[in-house]
Amino acid sequence: MAIQSLFPTLIYSARLQNANWRRFNNELLRECYQVRDHDRAGQQWSKKSYPGGYTSYGSLCQMQKMSSTFMELERKLNRHVKAFAKSLDLDLEGRPLAMTDCWINIMPHQVVHGLHLHPLSTISGTYYVKTPAGCPGIKFEDPRLDRFMAAPPRKADCRPEHRAWQTVKAEAGNIVLFESWMRHEVPPNPLVAERVSISFNYSWF
Ligand code: NI
Repeated sequence: MAIQSLFPTLIYSARLQNANWRRFNNELLRECYQVRDHDRAGQQWSKKSYPGGYTSYGSLCQMQKMSSTFMELERKLNRHVKAFAKSLDLDLEGRPLAMTDCWINIMPHQVVHGLHLHPLSTISGTYYVKTPAGCPGIKFEDPRLDRFMAAPPRKADCRPEHRAWQTVKAEAGNIVLFESWMRHEVPPNPLVAERVSISFNYSWF
């Protein structure tokens, strides 16, 4: 008898860097707040599309081209994205996998980021800048969910790989990478303290 585990879905997590991450995060955080306070278009966009929170997704979605600190983040992320593409056995045919978008998310009390995917991209991810204890993680949905139809539910104590939803903890200094077609969400922030993250897309050219 043999049981094979086929068609895995890979999620990459790692520390962005081993040393001096606090100093780098403080600099990023300072800039995130600075951008939030001055980005009128983003404030308006967030009012409609990210109620209660701030995101630069609709206004300044290429932060890596506007700030040397974000450019440094891009440079640090490139190495991780490369390693993830290698784990996925992607044949990039010598063409670049490059950052196209990079934006800020500031999530105060009770703000939620509903289920979504990142169309027109290859690899997406988030870097965590400020994660007060008890703030929500990123919750991934089993991409086969719409095919299960009459399948019975899984046991409450089933193995982690059999769960329909998986949450990866948000931890300052950590990055999480996934393939852009994976549906995910961030549940409501139950804390008064703000959760701050930077999300990004990489595309294959
Ligand atoms: Ni997302």
